[in-house]
Amino acid sequence: MRSDGLPYAYTCPAPPRYRHMWHWDSCFHAIAWSRIDPARARAELRTVLRSGRPDGFLPHTVFWGAPAGWRRAPLYATRGRLGDRATESVGPPLLAFAWEIVAAASEADDPGFRREAVRPLARHLDWLEHHRDPDGDGLLSIILPDESGLDDSPKYAPVFGRCTHDRPGYWLLVERARRAGWDSREIITAGEHHVEDVWFNVAYALSLRALARLSGDGAWAARAARVEAALLERCWDARRGLFFDLAGRAERPVPVSTWTALAPLVLGDLPVAVRRRLVEEHLLDPRRYAAPCGIPSVSMQEPAFNPRWDRFRCWRGPSWMNTAWLLVPAMRELGYHERADVVIASLQRAVAQDGFREYYDPLTGAGLGARGFGWSTLLIDL
Ligand code: GLC
Repeated sequence: MRSDGLPYAYTCPAPPRYRHMWHWDSCFHAIAWSRIDPARARAELRTVLRSGRPDGFLPHTVFWGAPAGWRRAPLYATRGRLGDRATESVGPPLLAFAWEIVAAASEADDPGFRREAVRPLARHLDWLEHHRDPDGDGLLSIILPDESGLDDSPKYAPVFGRCTHDRPGYWLLVERARRAGWDSREIITAGEHHVEDVWFNVAYALSLRALARLSGDGAWAARAARVEAALLERCWDARRGLFFDLAGRAERPVPVSTWTALAPLVLGDLPVAVRRRLVEEHLLDPRRYAAPCGIPSVSMQEPAFNPRWDRFRCWRGPSWMNTAWLLVPAMRELGYHERADVVIASLQRAVAQDGFREYYDPLTGAGLGARGFGWSTLLIDL
């Protein structure tokens, strides 16, 4: 119970380093929980929903037990400087997507779960459309690099310059947003530090499709189709065979190959030929993504690729479990079972050897970053 009486239940990603609740971490935790304890999974997702505002805004990070400590507080995108209950930033919008998976595991003991959140989930997806797509092209923008969950990905250097998440200038971005009262429409229409992020929009499309099924209302599927068409029309680079983010008001493509350039593979309604190219030209290529362990977060061909631990930066090369959890089933769906088996076996070996770590060296399988990391348990679902 929070001090104001609001009940909560969530899994810390990895205490003591990650004690708070992160939107997408909790979605993945609930998916893993749904395999062994659906009631626990439902509690986690209900908590994520409760962390938001009545207008549909859901925060990226929520400080349920206690506000962020004074040393880490400056790193969070909050309204004030100390004592906030949550960030004003958003995270990859996976809640409706996770809700459907947990609902499927709840048919026997809580069949009402399936429909209980249709209205607030709809409000949340409407909030995103209203506040994050001011140009109405179907693609949402993020205004801070870590809103995609991929904090220090090298793809953000050409977008945020000196203000990337790993540089002191990040603070300027947060201060600017504070001065603008966290009005993201204003930030997107007036400035250059924002990006139509492929992964963020893939998560959005997955949730729109899930809400269409949860609610039985086809309008949500039509909205998903519009997002998917925009990704294909505007982000797909037919020459490179990758999907690139679009930066700033001019919507400049950011031609850096990270796993998110492959993320649309999970959208089953995209043309099969496009999805096959993502697998054949990238995921199966030992110079790019066919690494000895998992799926690297950055193509091994990129100059920025670093397979090892970096004290100040993540998402610059190591393999993460959630990436494999998203991409491997889509590879199977298209018939690439052999590679899918190899990826999973390599992650199984890494976990057997080093436990559930935050990420793994794609070249050696060595466990890196936090220990006992929540979403790495997605391996049980894989
Ligand atoms: C790191 C990751 C982010 C995750 C958070 C909590 O900041 O980059 O994606 O949500 O940790 O686990």
